[in-house]
Amino acid sequence: MIIFSYLVLLSIVAKATSTSEFVPFDKSRLAPSSYFEQFDYKDLANSPWKPSQARKFDEERNEVVYFNGKWAIESSTKNVGYINDKGLVLKSKAKHHAISAKLPQPFNNTDNDLVLQYEIKLQNGLECGGTYIKLLDLQDDYSDFSSATPYQVMFGPDKCGSNNKIHFIIRRENPFNTSHVEEKHLGAAPMSKTGDLSTLYTLILKKNQDFEIRVNGEVAKAGNLIKSPHLMKPALNPPKEIEDPNDTMPSDWDMRVYIRDPNVQRPDDYDIKHGFPTILDPNAVKPDDWDESEPLFIPDPAAKKPEQWNDEEDGEWLAPEIYNPRCKELSGCGEWAPPMIANPQYVGPWIHPKIKNPNYKGEWKPRMIPNPEYYDDNKPSNLNQLVGGLGFELWSMNNDILFDNIYLGHSVKEAEMIGNETFKVKFDLEYANKQATKEKIKNEPVAPPAHFDDLLFGENVSTISSFVLFVKLFALKQYLDIKDTYFEFLRDPIHVITNRPFKFVLYCALFVFAFTIVCGVGSVLLFLISSGGGASHTYEVEEKVTKPSEQAIQSRIETLSDDEYEDEEVIVNVSDAHSSGINGSAGSPVKRKV
Ligand SMILES: *[C@@H]1O[C@H](CO)[C@@H](O)[C@H](O)[C@H]1NC(C)=O
Ligand SMILES: *[C@@H]1O[C@H](CO)[C@@H](O)[C@H](O)[C@H]1NC(C)=O
Ligand SMILES: *[C@@H]1O[C@H](CO)[C@@H](O)[C@H](O)[C@H]1NC(C)=O
Ligand SMILES: *[C@@H]1O[C@H](CO)[C@@H](O)[C@H](O)[C@H]1NC(C)=O
Ligand SMILES: *[C@@H]1O[C@H](CO)[C@@H](O)[C@H](O)[C@H]1NC(C)=O
Repeated sequence: MIIFSYLVLLSIVAKATSTSEFVPFDKSRLAPSSYFEQFDYKDLANSPWKPSQARKFDEERNEVVYFNGKWAIESSTKNVGYINDKGLVLKSKAKHHAISAKLPQPFNNTDNDLVLQYEIKLQNGLECGGTYIKLLDLQDDYSDFSSATPYQVMFGPDKCGSNNKIHFIIRRENPFNTSHVEEKHLGAAPMSKTGDLSTLYTLILKKNQDFEIRVNGEVAKAGNLIKSPHLMKPALNPPKEIEDPNDTMPSDWDMRVYIRDPNVQRPDDYDIKHGFPTILDPNAVKPDDWDESEPLFIPDPAAKKPEQWNDEEDGEWLAPEIYNPRCKELSGCGEWAPPMIANPQYVGPWIHPKIKNPNYKGEWKPRMIPNPEYYDDNKPSNLNQLVGGLGFELWSMNNDILFDNIYLGHSVKEAEMIGNETFKVKFDLEYANKQATKEKIKNEPVAPPAHFDDLLFGENVSTISSFVLFVKLFALKQYLDIKDTYFEFLRDPIHVITNRPFKFVLYCALFVFAFTIVCGVGSVLLFLISSGGGASHTYEVEEKVTKPSEQAIQSRIETLSDDEYEDEEVIVNVSDAHSSGINGSAGSPVKRKV
């Protein structure tokens, strides 16, 4: 039963999400020179796509690298678009992958537009890895396809962490030395998409050297390779002129912008006015009792050579020096010098004025000469070699990357048509599928409850439901306020009383009021309970008690005189009061006229 309902559910989901069966695109609508690959094969073995047998020696890691990552031709498993729509899928994590297909005919782009387009679906996301495609130089056999295989154009995303770009690389031969090939990279490359739906990447390189990179049909980058020579790095063409390496700076080349004014001399009184801020006091005289012959320090006469002192090992023993006690009695000892005083004639420093150098020749630069290695590669769209194959040569941390609908041709229109009829429709299906099967977010945020102040200052107080809410919230607010005040009071009563005396008194009054009401209601209830239920009970007891006492009274009356009769009534009252008191009720004592 459960399985059955599960199956029903599954079929409903399948119906709701994707019912479109894949229909191959009719290739006969394309020009004969156009290549279009939609991977409509039984499997990889029955396709022209051949995984590489290559291995290479990685010098950086000093080990042999095998291009042994697995490939498959299979349907998409995530956010399915068309049913049974297959693609080429990179299957292994963290391995070198290389796969290629020979074109049915070599692709010649001379004097033509180049349009390369393909889809990528990152079914497991992409943390680090490339998803670019290469247009390979014409070769008989690509079974050794690797990173070393020469190519003409490389295009597509490459992402590692936050480093994300769509590569556009052309390999250009140096016309003077065709075995000297340089990779020209698009400098400010656009970013790729990282979602798990199919993304369409298009490269257009027109024969006028305009280029465009489109992502899902929208232009992500455009320019002209010749008019903006700095787009590619290194530049497509070497500079026309270079600095002459044989040119050297002449020895008399004057690069000083300013020099000291030769017409201005240093003032004659420079020393006394500008040279020294302080001078020796010229008026000082040596005191009479200054003894220059007496040294300021003398060997301590009280010091003794230590017994362990060994003249041979420790050298000659010298007594430590002490301040000469003789000098204390004099103005001073040792060489006398006059003290320093501030120079009274000093007026500050003097700065030699500067003038512009009449011989200034500017900064020296070597002269420019024509670049002997200059060449004018003004038609990079004319690829240097015929393209004979397509290849993916990738390393990726994430597997299940699906490639599909590869177009290589000369027509933007064809690429757009393919995009409109295959990618766009599929993308919408994938999107709908993703929405339908999306997991509900746990703890989805809920709207915050209405706030008292919103209602108070908002516009909705007039409606009845709002008014009810208003009252509820008002009560809640007051309740919370009272609670807060109460706890505050417990913590710091003085503070509450002094800072909010009105509130405190109000709440105290409210409390007393509420207490009184509760007590009042409580006592009324108590009264009702006790007086209602207790009355009949008392009566029964009274009967029991009074009946024998009536007889007793009767018998006693018979024995009493008439005078004594009045007193007897009192006695009866007392005994009755006592007997009814057994019940504990507030019932009035039964008075009986006997
Ligand atoms: C490529 O096409 C150009 C222009 O049509 C032609 O001149 C050239 O010979 C072709 N190259 C090859 C190798 O076929
Ligand atoms: C041509 O370029 C290759 C590769 O850069 C280099 O090894 C070779 O020496 C160059 N030949 C000449 C003649 O400059
Ligand atoms: C520089 O001088 C050397 C030797 O005279 C010469 O061979 C070389 O061609 C010169 N270089 C340039 C760029 O003129
Ligand atoms: C593709 O679709 C776009 C948008 O609907 C349209 O502007 C364009 O003309 C179409 N191109 C082709 C070749 O069908
Ligand atoms: C007022 O009431 C309307 C209708 O119930 C509601 O859409 C709106 O958000 C309310 N405005 C405020 C400020 O609560």
